[in-house]
This record gives sequence, C-alpha cells and structure tokens, in this order.
Amino acid sequence: MDWDFRRLGVNICVCYQVTNAQALAAWQATDQPSVEQLGRLFHCGHHCAMCVPYFQSLLQEWKQGTWPPTGDACRNASG
Ligand code: FES
Repeated sequence: MDWDFRRLGVNICVCYQVTNAQALAAWQATDQPSVEQLGRLFHCGHHCAMCVPYFQSLLQEWKQGTWPPTGDACRNASG
C-alpha cells in the first residue's frame, strides 16, 4: 500500500481531516501529549475511531524519538 501513516503530513483522521503533522505540533506544544488531547482539539476518535491506534503508535514512537524520521524515509529491517 502507498499509504504510510508515518510519513509526515499524511491524513490520519479521515473523519475530521487531521494529519500526523497536526498531531505532532499539538504534542510538541504541551508537556502532557496524548491521543485524548487530539480528541479535544480536533475531535479525533469521536466518530469511527479508526485513527486512534495510529495516533497511539505515532505518539509512542515520537516519545521514543523514532518518529518522525530524519531525512528520507527508509524501511527499517524489522524482525
Ligand atoms: S478517522 Fe478519526 S474519528 Fe474516524
């Protein structure tokens, strides 16, 4: 599939048209980043909630420093 939810700028919440870049900006603007915060700000998760696990993954990876990737996206050899 072409859709890569980690690629910066990609629409994650299709119900409310919220990108991962918007989520990142919101998380960077607070010391208590959360997926619930995106619900309060953008209503993410308030309709179908399909976006929630993607935002959860991104938030976790951002906290770990592995998202967003620096430079060109390249596939990690995952095991
Ligand atoms: S995709 Fe976010 S609520 Fe439906």
